[in-house]
Amino acid sequence: MRKIKTGIVGLGRLGKVHATNVVNYVSQLDLIAACSVVEEELQYASLNLGVEKTYESFEEMIDQADIEAVIIVSPSSLHTKQIEYAFKKGKHVFCEKPIGLEVKEIEQVEEFIEKRKDQVFMLGFMRRFDESYQYAKEMVDRGDIGEITLVRCYGIDPSSGLPSFVQFAKNSHSGGLFIDMAIHDIDLVRWFTGQEIKEVYAIGNNFAYPELAEYGDTETGAALMKLSNDAIAILVSGRNAAHGYHVETEIIGTKGMLRVAQEPEKNLVTIFDEKGVRRPCSEHFPERFKQAFINELIEFAKCIIERQVPGVSAKDGLESTKVALACTKSFETGKLVALEDEAK
Ligand SMILES: NC(=O)c1ccc[n+]([C@@H]2O[C@H](COP(=O)([O-])OP(=O)(O)OC[C@H]3O[C@@H](n4cnc5c(N)ncnc54)[C@H](O)[C@@H]3O)[C@@H](O)[C@H]2O)c1
Repeated sequence: MRKIKTGIVGLGRLGKVHATNVVNYVSQLDLIAACSVVEEELQYASLNLGVEKTYESFEEMIDQADIEAVIIVSPSSLHTKQIEYAFKKGKHVFCEKPIGLEVKEIEQVEEFIEKRKDQVFMLGFMRRFDESYQYAKEMVDRGDIGEITLVRCYGIDPSSGLPSFVQFAKNSHSGGLFIDMAIHDIDLVRWFTGQEIKEVYAIGNNFAYPELAEYGDTETGAALMKLSNDAIAILVSGRNAAHGYHVETEIIGTKGMLRVAQEPEKNLVTIFDEKGVRRPCSEHFPERFKQAFINELIEFAKCIIERQVPGVSAKDGLESTKVALACTKSFETGKLVALEDEAK
């Protein structure tokens, strides 16, 4: 079997998950290089994952390591620069969401990617690789629920993750709640409906965690959206779900309705104890989307080996970021934002 020599940049919250997945579950990728600015993370990669070469500089890793592909899991503000650098040096690139934080930079990098058809670029919208979302998508595409009239999404991080979110907002220039968190739901809305989003009105608050505001983040946000065909989307995003990691999606059609993870259950166990009868909940994103994170990297490798174009493109990254930025603007100005006006 052909193995693709691969490097990874970023070994933080998600980088470690991707690196461990590559080593344990993605046999087509061979993780031989890793880059981080944190020395302990590099030691972890060498000692625990058997990574041969470690680097503190991304450019050095790309220039010196004998790799064909790179997985980018660095802070979002670095993505476009790193994609372009790696692509220029002929590497296949898998990049975490969001593709970038600035529309101009993303447009430039998208144009660049489009010109190099022999290299694979894939964006990490992992929910598209989750079994339940794929099941729902097949039903939607078969027309089982008719024409979609409304999509409602909840994407709320667990309260237990607050210290890491504050750190993340502080260090990583995440872009704020809409671009960091709601972007997954924006992608789902585009994916399920096949429509673009044309108007957004977003609001938010920081009741539980005012400290997030200091770093330009928001604890709870909601957005109402009008799609190109006048269908509706309603998004709720947050950082404060007391019960765990709450990701839920409802798709209402003219002939029926689907709900994915109405209660984000951890497994099939029901607990009967002094608190009553209850079901445990997914605790965080690596747990809820464990298999989806693996599946997307298997797909990345398959696209390289079989010379296929991945289903999640730079354009998906661009369009979702435009919508997320429009939400941020609407939240900040208190006004409805038309995407058409933003393009002028
Ligand atoms: N798909 C998802 O659900 C999901 C979940 C979490 C994070 N993410 C995305 O993954 C990315 C990383 O997030 P995280 O939570 O793991 O961040 P993190 O802050 O935990 O880790 C960042 C990593 O990047 C490295 N880094 C920072 N600056 C660098 C530089 N100049 N050169 C090389 N390496 C550098 C750090 O050493 C660290 O290893 C973000 O873009 C985030 O949006 C996606």
